Amino acid sequence: RTSVNVGLLGFGTVGTGVVRIISAHQEDLVKQTGMGVNIHKILVRDRDKPRSVPGMEHLVTDRAEEILQDPAIDVVIEVMGGIHPAKEYICAALERGKHVVTANKDLMALYGAEILTLAKERGSDVFYEASVAGGVPILRALEESFSSDRITKIMGIVNGTTNYILSKMSQDGASYEEVLKEAQALGFAEADPSSDVDGIDAARKMTILSTLGFRVPVALEEVDVKGIRGVTQDDIAFGKKLGYEIKLMGLAQRDDDKIEVSVEPTMVHHSHPLASVNGVFNAVYVYGEAVGETMFYGPGAGELPTATSVVSDLVMVVKNMKLHVNGQGMVAPYKEKRMKEETE
Ligand code: NDP
Ligand code: HSE
Repeated sequence: RTSVNVGLLGFGTVGTGVVRIISAHQEDLVKQTGMGVNIHKILVRDRDKPRSVPGMEHLVTDRAEEILQDPAIDVVIEVMGGIHPAKEYICAALERGKHVVTANKDLMALYGAEILTLAKERGSDVFYEASVAGGVPILRALEESFSSDRITKIMGIVNGTTNYILSKMSQDGASYEEVLKEAQALGFAEADPSSDVDGIDAARKMTILSTLGFRVPVALEEVDVKGIRGVTQDDIAFGKKLGYEIKLMGLAQRDDDKIEVSVEPTMVHHSHPLASVNGVFNAVYVYGEAVGETMFYGPGAGELPTATSVVSDLVMVVKNMKLHVNGQGMVAPYKEKRMKEETE
């Protein structure tokens, strides 16, 4: 066979980017995998909504079964967001032997164990690089590049919307409400932006980062969360006078078996590299006992940056298909432990 068939769940900010990248980089994808990528069907809520990529109308459907029950579809890319029905659709796809790529941190932070265990049972891949820090390749780095080390600290700015708001408030003196509207218009914010500004989105991402980085299950409820609603212009100006920027900071630390994870507005001194991470950019600082300090930086949200991560996950799936090694990812053992504990 010469191509892989993809069913896309969602055609919003990220889904549009996925379609654009697959189309623009088709030749390069074929070079890397030996297979073309064919978008077979796209699920949306409202079929009549105008779409910004022309010529895709014939692929658009509002019936999920047209993707989930179609044996011709090899890979389902879920970029619709939310927990339900995204979870049911992903599980249905896995039950039918399809591979899954998702950008959904809400889902992976809460149901990652269940989804990854089901995938392993079915011999399917599930990749979710875009779920944390958009275009920054941090999850694969934690799973693979740090496999020889013991990570003791993960710290970072992992929400683009709040970093955009705080940076604009600091640099331009803009008002919180005004900048939040801008972040929504640019497609950075969640469908319900309260999960951004209340720190929940960052907490979900810290759950995923610490589970992968520390290789132990960390639950969302264990994260101490405080958002940015209470941060005023006066707080920002006061911090600046003393040489600090206020950032919504995720912090995960492990000391022997004790793990602490939090998200809260934090004063960061100008001399620290995280203080100059501005706008929609994210940065994740990882400390490993052997390697010492490392930092990953890049766009944390937005159409094309996020879609870059989604499409590289798709490339991983296709490479695995060629080698017949799907579903053999190394993430399962500790997730299975979590599942076992939950059922005991
Ligand atoms: P959007 O709201 O822009 O798009 C969502 C898409 O999914 C729309 O096309 C919508 O249809 C469709 N959809 C939603 N619910 C349903 C449903 N029940 N049935 C059928 N179709 C549905 O979201 P984003 O693209 O911004 O985000 C998608 C996912 O990616 C989320 O999980 C988000 O957290 C994650 N993400 C987003 C980033 C970003 O920068 N935006 C960055 C990293 C991750 P319709 O078009 O008809 O409304
Ligand atoms: N709403 C999220 C953010 C999207 O602003 O970071 C990327 O996960």
